[in-house]
Amino acid sequence: MTIHIGAQPDEIAETVLMPGDPYRAKWAAETFLENPVCINEVRGMLGFTGTWNGHRVTIQGSGMGMPSLSIYANELIRDYGAQTLIRIGSCGGMQDKVGLRDIIIAMTASSISTPSNSIFREFNFAPSADWSLLNAAVAAAGRRDDVTTHVGGIYSSDVFYDERPDLNEQMVRHGILGVEMEAAELYTLAARYGRRALAVLTVSDHLGTGDSMPSDQRERSFGDMVEIALEAAFA
Ligand code: HPA
Repeated sequence: MTIHIGAQPDEIAETVLMPGDPYRAKWAAETFLENPVCINEVRGMLGFTGTWNGHRVTIQGSGMGMPSLSIYANELIRDYGAQTLIRIGSCGGMQDKVGLRDIIIAMTASSISTPSNSIFREFNFAPSADWSLLNAAVAAAGRRDDVTTHVGGIYSSDVFYDERPDLNEQMVRHGILGVEMEAAELYTLAARYGRRALAVLTVSDHLGTGDSMPSDQRERSFGDMVEIALEAAFA
């Protein structure tokens, strides 16, 4: 047990999927894993361990934002030995070519700051995905002809209600595909501890058009994302 995770040491798999929403962790575990067992309820941040095609997998909620994700990812890595950590979550589309329901596989995650900034200070570290996971996720996404996939840079913001339209303009100008709030810290922690990390994201809204995905379509799209993440983890 750690401060924020109540699981016993052997109850967490080496492969961990991390949605922001703990109820999405429950849904994904009950939908995609065999014999899912709830291994964490501390603070309602649900986590489940089960198997997928015979492989042990944990799906643990991360909460919203990098400070919250950082707590769970640090404990999963340092105390439970997680080796492969894949964020599954939603993001806002930033480029015109990015549509609702599309999947973004994040090669890099830019940020203004992360919880790791106290280490880097004036240095601009470039948080990037694990190549083997990225490659496998792109292949898994390519096998589905009903999903449009984009691969490239995303922006991990500290705020959902953003007061910096000028900054978003620069992100768009520099080819950033979408915005979310967790991946940069996950990639940085994976680099620090020599683990594999990736973020596979579903576009749930679009900053340019203001459109957002109707709730009745969310489940299906999020399912594609979970399957791509699982296929990538065990490729
Ligand atoms: N901003 C930040 N995070 C998000 C967004 C957004 O527009 N949509 C989904 N996650």
